[in-house]
Amino acid sequence: MKIGSVSLSSPVLLAPMAGITDFPFRKTVKNFGAGLVVSEMVASRTVLEAIKHEKIRQRLHFFEAQREAGPVSVQLVGYDPSIMAEAARFNEQLGVDLLDINMGCPVKKVVNTEAGAALMKDETLAANIIRAVVDAVRIPVTVKMRLGWDQNTQNAASLAKIAENEGAAAVTVHGRTRSQFYEGRADWEAIGDVKKAVSLPVIGNGDVVTETDAQNLLKISGCDAVMVGRGAWGKPWILHHMGKFLAGGTVPPPPTGEELYQVVLAHMALILDYYGAYRGVRIARKHLSWYSKGRTGSAPFRAAVNACDSEGELLKLVEHFKEVEAAD
Ligand SMILES: Cc1cc2nc3c(=O)[nH]c(=O)nc-3n(C[C@H](O)[C@H](O)[C@H](O)COP(=O)(O)O)c2cc1C
Repeated sequence: MKIGSVSLSSPVLLAPMAGITDFPFRKTVKNFGAGLVVSEMVASRTVLEAIKHEKIRQRLHFFEAQREAGPVSVQLVGYDPSIMAEAARFNEQLGVDLLDINMGCPVKKVVNTEAGAALMKDETLAANIIRAVVDAVRIPVTVKMRLGWDQNTQNAASLAKIAENEGAAAVTVHGRTRSQFYEGRADWEAIGDVKKAVSLPVIGNGDVVTETDAQNLLKISGCDAVMVGRGAWGKPWILHHMGKFLAGGTVPPPPTGEELYQVVLAHMALILDYYGAYRGVRIARKHLSWYSKGRTGSAPFRAAVNACDSEGELLKLVEHFKEVEAAD
């Protein structure tokens, strides 16, 4: 699959998730294999602050390290076409391979500023943002949206057509409306209506957890690729397994015992290296809990994880995975 000039090795992509798809997690997923990993959303104004302030600019040095994990897609969130364009240009100069525009975030703080899913209610502003970003850079630009604002205003097909006309290279559709937040089932048939309306690649998203889910979403929607979010929590290998399954290959069993231990240890080492011990331990807790989900002894393990306060304790806890077998 290709998004503009960028070739993807697999049609299974990791969804952007604020607070979760940081560099350590993206690299862990990419080490197994995934078509693409996308950054957590970055406010376009924050990017511009980074240009102005040397101190913040230094924090963006991690972009070079991100490239180790394969093509880098950065997701921008904002409402002002000229600020979005400037932020896009800055990211292109940093070496980002793709830019994604967030038109799906449902949270009040974002939609109250007319950004995220609020842009689905203002197709003119949405079009102006897409055009401004596309005109500002040479790298491919994608748009991630929901089905619409609410059940009565499902305009994803219309917005996807606008994205196509304004020069976007692909769209991702999460099969829920903004009103649904994360409730109910993602509607894969409705994603199919978007696919039928445009000729650019459409990436389907929502509730893909197993290899069979990935296959079913593609079958039902006719999409070109599938994007996986929560299904990857504690299972960074799942995108690789889905890719194998879709290609008709043999899917290896999920890692257990020593193999699982090595996966978790490498992920924890990346977190500690990236954030330092204090923040790292706190960020690692949720990932460790997800790795243990559904496995024997996960309840007392999670309690110990939440009480863990140092790098040493954390690494000791990781040894737990040497003994655990497959998920129950
Ligand atoms: C904790 C969390 C954070 C998210 N952050 C973002 C984000 O920064 N940008 C975005 O476009 N979508 C974000 N999403 C939405 C996901 O990318 C995805 O569309 C949604 O979770 C549905 O896919 P899933 O059922 O595979 O999780 C987030 C979702 C969750 C659960």
